[in-house]
Amino acid sequence: MDITELITNLYSDQGRQDPYPLYAALHELGPVHVFPKRAPGSTVTAVAGGYDLVDAILRDPEWTKQSPPGWEQHEILRTFESSMMFINPPDHTRMRAVFAKTFTPRRLGALEPVIERVTERQLDRMAEAGADGAEVDFVADFAYPIPALVMADFIGLPEADLAWYRERVEWIDEFLDLGGATPQRLAQANTAAEELRGYYRELIATRRRVPGEDLITGLIEALDSGTVDLTEDELISNLIVLFNASFVTTVYMFSNGLPLLLEHPQVTAALPGDDELTRGAVDEVLRMQSPVHFLARAAPRDTVLQGVPVAEGENVMLLIAAANRDPARFADPDRFDPRRSGPPSLAFGVGLHFCLGAGVSRLEGRLALPRLFARFPDLRVSRTPEYSGSLFLRGIDKLFVTTGA
Ligand code: HEM
Repeated sequence: MDITELITNLYSDQGRQDPYPLYAALHELGPVHVFPKRAPGSTVTAVAGGYDLVDAILRDPEWTKQSPPGWEQHEILRTFESSMMFINPPDHTRMRAVFAKTFTPRRLGALEPVIERVTERQLDRMAEAGADGAEVDFVADFAYPIPALVMADFIGLPEADLAWYRERVEWIDEFLDLGGATPQRLAQANTAAEELRGYYRELIATRRRVPGEDLITGLIEALDSGTVDLTEDELISNLIVLFNASFVTTVYMFSNGLPLLLEHPQVTAALPGDDELTRGAVDEVLRMQSPVHFLARAAPRDTVLQGVPVAEGENVMLLIAAANRDPARFADPDRFDPRRSGPPSLAFGVGLHFCLGAGVSRLEGRLALPRLFARFPDLRVSRTPEYSGSLFLRGIDKLFVTTGA
């Protein structure tokens, strides 16, 4: 298979559903290639899947995030371009510092009882729904509600708003997918951004009147007292991006992880009571079934990457999910090994934009998975999992199981 065929296949439904054979073929072809399928106006010139190269580009602060042309005309792009995830220093540094202060070990510690409470509640739901051998949708009852409710609690979003909110998150995520920037998806993402901005403006006004103990209240107080360098508009953009980044990814950590974990019953049986093994299992799930498959960075100057020319300002597509299975860095990369040593996976990115919530998701995995397997030692997948169809955020949206209870 040459690179043109490989990328064409990766864009296909089948490729998005199971890109791993394509990534294995990519590693045989080499770490970086000319991007063969340029859409009109696209600035992606190369595609890289080799761990060392992807890692080096992400760590190099000179490789930057690029603003899409005409971004000023679209609410969704204005929102992105005023949030830390999509911009470069010095604004990135300024905004990230404000939010990084809120992800302290103390705050993570305070999240533990929330995660435990939500997990127990969802396990009870699963037990009830799965009584007498009935099938349960693991995504609806476990993988989705745990991260959504935990993050809603953390940020300060009322639980009753989540279903409405989730639909808008989906509109934005569809736009972010490979080939997702169609006029229809852009229009829908703009609507989502407009509605979410209005939603946060109201929520902020409410919290000003009646403060809570959540992130929003803390940030408004800091904003109003002039102790942080952030405008209210920037606060809203970052809240939108933060919540978007936080939950679909973690849903997929659970839903993509379950079938993989269940293939290793000796591991699932040992997770309750073995924190070190659980940490390893969570990281191995994220390596092998990364929720985010690719990122992009633009070249700081005309350059040549192992024979592939990239002009200044052009983008390299960085296939982090392929890098996570690079046989040059992970021996026997398709083998699940929760005790694996070796380099860290790139599932949370690396460098300046390293995931701000990595600790939150890892904590959710560490606390919730052992409880799941302790409660349902005979949990089984009962139907073929249904994938989202997206490659950017690749994951299982429907996963029927029987609890064995
Ligand atoms: C398993 C779950 C998660 C995965 C796989 C994941 C993945 C990632 C990746 C790959 C990046 C790097 C983006 C880049 O370099 O362009 C990132 C950034 C980010 N993530 Fe996560 N994430 C997860 C959970 C979360 C959670 C729970 C939160 C919030 C609590 C969060 C908030 C963010 C933010 C704010 C950034 C941008 C940081 C910056 O630009 O400086 N993520 N995430």
